[in-house]
Amino acid sequence: MTERTLTVRVARIARQTPEILSFELAHPAGRELPSYQAGAHIDVHMPGGFSRQYSLARAHGEASASAYLIGVKREAVSRGGSASMHARLREGDLIAISAPRNTFPIRPEARRHLLLAGGIGMTPLLAMAQALAREGADFELCLFVRGEEHLAFAEALRSPLLAPHVRLHFDTGEAGEGGRRIDLRQLLAERRPGTHLYVCGPGGFMAAVREAASHWPEEALHAEYFAAPDGAAVAGGRPFTLRLARRGIHVPVAADQTAVDALHAFGIDIPVSCEQGLCGTCVVGADGAGAEHRDFCLTGSERHAKVALCCSRAKGDELVLDL
Ligand code: FES
Repeated sequence: MTERTLTVRVARIARQTPEILSFELAHPAGRELPSYQAGAHIDVHMPGGFSRQYSLARAHGEASASAYLIGVKREAVSRGGSASMHARLREGDLIAISAPRNTFPIRPEARRHLLLAGGIGMTPLLAMAQALAREGADFELCLFVRGEEHLAFAEALRSPLLAPHVRLHFDTGEAGEGGRRIDLRQLLAERRPGTHLYVCGPGGFMAAVREAASHWPEEALHAEYFAAPDGAAVAGGRPFTLRLARRGIHVPVAADQTAVDALHAFGIDIPVSCEQGLCGTCVVGADGAGAEHRDFCLTGSERHAKVALCCSRAKGDELVLDL
């Protein structure tokens, strides 16, 4: 089961780097698309039945056209999504997408924002940087890329709006225009009070940032993953029962079943998308204290009252849902 979809037209395809294409997606009749907050992502549904999540790489209202902008990196080892987007999509094509969802919002309580992006992980952070710059917020966007030729959305990054806030790190060691090596440990050694850290990038980069920020409070760390980290347990476990408090019914979940599969088998429609605990589509209200949380999209405080049903399970014999 999936969420309802929107049909959009591929309005523009642009090559950003040898491996990254950007796609602008517009309403087929030129109307406004649903608005969103920076940090949001959409699911793109491709022919063949697969869907992938892509972050929106531009703050809402940043461009004159109401088009969604995504960046797609052609992965060497692709599950089909990025390769198909690169090979098959043409300007003018119609595709189905989900409405934007945001599991990686700018935290309103933060007094300063430190945005760290590895490679194509820059897309949600670019939108956040634009939104923060428009607000006049105190923030810095640090981008880690292999070399200058791998820097996507360079025009936006070097615009007068963002350039004063952007620091570039090129792995090649040769600083290009504005590029300097950034030492993660040094950067994160001290946390200025009120600073929140946002990170998005490949698994190794995420792990390095987490390690360098291991002394930061959990509530000040916000991460957007592309895929479940290596070794993460997202499926299977002990059998348990879901208690649907509002309906007053119990639904058994077998050891090899997910909570969402058990609910679907019972005829209860819960939308799903990534099925890896990444996108937040399957999140519902719950007694979070009774859950073994296995997702990568909920914050520590959200986990008190929510659960991602595609991957999380009960800690004990029962998990109470607000359904
Ligand atoms: S379906 Fe994506 S978090 Fe559950």
